[in-house]
Amino acid sequence: MAETLLRVEGLRTYFYTWAGVVKAVDGVSLHVNKGETLGIVGESGSGKTVTALSIMRIVPAPGKIIEGKIEFQRKNLLAESDEEMRKLRGREIGYIFQDPTSTLDPVYTVGEQLSEVLVRHQNLDKKSAMDRAVELLRIVEIPDPEIRINQYPHQLSGGTKQRIAIARAICCSPSLLLADEPTTALDVTIQAQILETLKGLKDRFNMSMVLITHDMGIVAETCDRVVILYAGQVYETGTTEQVFENPKHPYTEALLTSVPHLALKRERLSVIQGNIPNLIEPPSGCRFHPRCKYAQQICIDKVPELEPMEEGHLAACHFARELKLKSPVTS
Ligand SMILES: Nc1ncnc2c1ncn2[C@@H]1O[C@H](COP(=O)(O)OP(=O)(O)O)[C@@H](O)[C@H]1O
Ligand code: SF4
Ligand SMILES: [Mg+2]
Repeated sequence: MAETLLRVEGLRTYFYTWAGVVKAVDGVSLHVNKGETLGIVGESGSGKTVTALSIMRIVPAPGKIIEGKIEFQRKNLLAESDEEMRKLRGREIGYIFQDPTSTLDPVYTVGEQLSEVLVRHQNLDKKSAMDRAVELLRIVEIPDPEIRINQYPHQLSGGTKQRIAIARAICCSPSLLLADEPTTALDVTIQAQILETLKGLKDRFNMSMVLITHDMGIVAETCDRVVILYAGQVYETGTTEQVFENPKHPYTEALLTSVPHLALKRERLSVIQGNIPNLIEPPSGCRFHPRCKYAQQICIDKVPELEPMEEGHLAACHFARELKLKSPVTS
């Protein structure tokens, strides 16, 4: 049996705004096994980032985790002290933020920023921290690390900045790396290179990884298992193979047919119609019903439960067992 590193159960994180309560994450359960890469996928606004921020316990105000369990290495993270969480964040869980420009401080050199983390979490003196920082740049495959180490963020390309963010996230050899859309801001060739680097680092340092993305193509290339999020809820989960070969949720089918290099050649690329719902007053029943081409009355009246389809493969749709959904892999 695979050993579980992280388990999230029934997580609810809401934002208490002047306009109302935004139910950003609304009952999410997921787990990450040791050594695997879990993909969290969904359109923009589906709650991916807020899920990751909740795991790290850095949800910004007016957000609040109001319910659920987060267990990491058998510790209940929601019961840990702030001090304990600060240590855990640096040493055991590495985080790559969605926006690489916000990660790096413009007034410090690359070396200063990396060595600061090393001094804080690993008790290195300044000189050894700087040496280790150069080595880290080499590990994340940045050319000329001795030159880069003395540069400021504005002197670096987007790809190099993201590699430095990766170096910072892995500098204490965490057992879990949370990567929030690590390549979204970059162009396609750089994207592929960065994903290769991440895969290599994961194996080299024996990490588990949560890769957040809106791109099913990236999941196909990188992830062992996948969680499909929609409007703050899990709509399907399983191994990458199960979900791609035999999708059980209409939203997954829609996501799969919107991926350029996965879609069938003869078929027109489809864009999912409609918008992600307002999370202050989400649609009744199945939250996907206003956009779902298979919707019926029961979808408006009743919330579908996440139910097992086969071992490790779950879906939340009233018609999951009946629908014959299209897969770009098998059709
Ligand atoms: N600081 C905030 N205040 C109010 N609402 C927020 C805040 N941050 C995120 N949200 C809302 O939470 C929902 C989920 O956001 P997010 O997790 O960032 O989505 P994703 O990462 O999947 O694009 C969105 O509806 C978003 O508007
Ligand atoms: S429950 Fe109904 S609306 Fe929701 S995905 Fe299934 S068929 Fe579509
Ligand atoms: Mg996000």
